[in-house]
Amino acid sequence: MFQRDLLKGRAIFLTGGGTGLGRSMALRFAELGARLFVVGRREDPLRETCEEILRLGGAAAYATCDVRDHAAVEAAAARADQQFGEINTLVNNAAGNFIARTEKLSPNAFNAVVGIVLHGSFHCTQVFGKRWIAQKLGGNVLNIVTTYAAANCGSGFVVPSACAKAGVLAMTTSLAVEWAKYHIRINAIAPGPFPTEGAWSRLMPSKQFEERSKDRHPMKRFGRHEELANLAAFLLSDMAEYINGECVVIDGGQWLRGAGEFNDLMLLQESAWETMEAARQKKA
Ligand code: HXC
Ligand code: NAP
Repeated sequence: MFQRDLLKGRAIFLTGGGTGLGRSMALRFAELGARLFVVGRREDPLRETCEEILRLGGAAAYATCDVRDHAAVEAAAARADQQFGEINTLVNNAAGNFIARTEKLSPNAFNAVVGIVLHGSFHCTQVFGKRWIAQKLGGNVLNIVTTYAAANCGSGFVVPSACAKAGVLAMTTSLAVEWAKYHIRINAIAPGPFPTEGAWSRLMPSKQFEERSKDRHPMKRFGRHEELANLAAFLLSDMAEYINGECVVIDGGQWLRGAGEFNDLMLLQESAWETMEAARQKKA
């Protein structure tokens, strides 16, 4: 569907690009002609992502950076600009999350997640936004949030993440308006469940819970990384130039299944439907 040079000319700063969905997006964007600058705290996964992109004929570089630290983000951004000329695209993908009973959380546990997700996304967005505004460059931002942020419903047991992702969504819609005059677009993606080591190890308490989650899913499956990477490529591309301040849910209908009052009727046997339908016909 996409032309192979869809993202040619893009120099993308992508946080959390060493693992999971960040890695999958980095590889896909590179395949579509973008140059990638990936950041995260651990060097090994970042190096591995870059080596894979280079092996496939793309352009990539990395820097270790904790996005909670504004000065570290400034330093990584400067290195990225040196490497590729001007960075013109930012993907805020880095996140922290875990399941816990909220009454048991320490202040530091709350701060750790909010620091990575909300403060980290703000640091990166402001660092590049300032440059793009001062140099009249324009730019493009994509924030990876979650369905419990997009649906404005939150979720128990992941309260720091729910608070932080809702904040990132508020930043998305706010800046879409404030920075539109600078030709800066800012959108979000709200993924449902996509298997990654980072998310599964922290959020899936057991195999049984995973199976139950899949069984409750309207499509009876989790997301595929290429499905999310393709959506991200489209939203960043010039094909989506008039999409601004939007949050696109990609979850196979999972959160809607939880929202609809009668959705549990999915569980009703075919025979029960037939009995009810037959009874109605007799009355008519
Ligand atoms: C309660 C916990 C905890 C847990 C850590 N803490 N894990 N508290 N339950 N399971 C507490 C610690 O005790 C500590 O508080 C504080 O959090 C900070 O922990 P550290 O390990 O010192 O912090 P740090 O090394 O900075 O690690 C941050 C982290 C970690 C968020 C805690 O999990 C991490 O690095 N995550 C990055 C990757 C990630 O989370 N990926 C999943 C994204 S998936 P004290 O008071 O003891 O000092 C996602 C999907 C959502 O977001 C939707 C899915 C469908
Ligand atoms: P992941 O592999 O654990 O990705 C998180 C990435 O963030 C890691 O590469 C991690 O690298 C980086 N990171 C964490 N803290 C950081 C910090 N302080 N500074 C810089 N980088 C940091 O998990 P994932 O599932 O791919 O998640 C990617 C994104 O998708 C996240 O925004 C997540 O909330 C979102 N999401 C995922 C799912 C899902 O089902 N997988 C569902 C909804 C939303 P280091 O540890 O090396 O720093």
